[in-house]
Amino acid sequence: MQIDLAFTPPELEKKDLRNKTVVVIDALRATSTMITAFENGCAGFIPVATIEEAQKLFADLNEPNLLLGGERRALPVEGFHLGNSPRDYRPEKVNDKMVIMTTTNGTQALVAARQAGEVFIGAFPNLTALCRRLQEAGRDILIACAGEKGFFCLEDTVCGGAMIGHLGKEDLPVQESDSALAAKILYEYFAADIYGMLAACEWGRYLEKMGLGKDIRLCAQIDSSKLVPTYREGKVYLDR
Ligand code: MLT
Repeated sequence: MQIDLAFTPPELEKKDLRNKTVVVIDALRATSTMITAFENGCAGFIPVATIEEAQKLFADLNEPNLLLGGERRALPVEGFHLGNSPRDYRPEKVNDKMVIMTTTNGTQALVAARQAGEVFIGAFPNLTALCRRLQEAGRDILIACAGEKGFFCLEDTVCGGAMIGHLGKEDLPVQESDSALAAKILYEYFAADIYGMLAACEWGRYLEKMGLGKDIRLCAQIDSSKLVPTYREGKVYLDR
């Protein structure tokens, strides 16, 4: 099994995604928020790139169980029902609801991954469950970090490195690309204090400054969920 990692969506777009399992990671916060939402009964997400696209789709579909969610600069978008904080996605708000979602990096990375054979949603909260699914799938893996506006970000790379480290421990013949190996080494450096890494990285410091520090704690809860959402035909949902 080969494991590769794209530090950013522009890198992902240059890779051949066919026949691969892609894992999209936006550790702070989009993929962590999606996992929380599913834990709270959310029916699924339709990730889109822009606010305008989200608004148009919402109006066109005009379905009673639809909500608009997302952020820009970490803040909820005006007129949307939900932001991108995991704390927004409480059962009373999202149970049985479908959320059209747009975030700065996370939903962009998902849209960029849509050609892949299979796409999973990954973050620290579903680390072990996700790795199990990857083993079962048995295909070559490409970890897609959402990054920050096309550039490297520490938290997604460390989270990807955690997955690579975990897979390497199983009895599997794993071949890591240089980027995958680098991510694994970075994870090993931070492994003892994932919360500390999330709080110290650029976006974590920004979230803290915006009064969203509690979200960092939630995003740092390794293995708090066993759910592994899938992205297929334009929607994120639980297929088992
Ligand atoms: C993103 O997609 O860029 C993030 O999830 C930003 C955030 O923390 O809201």
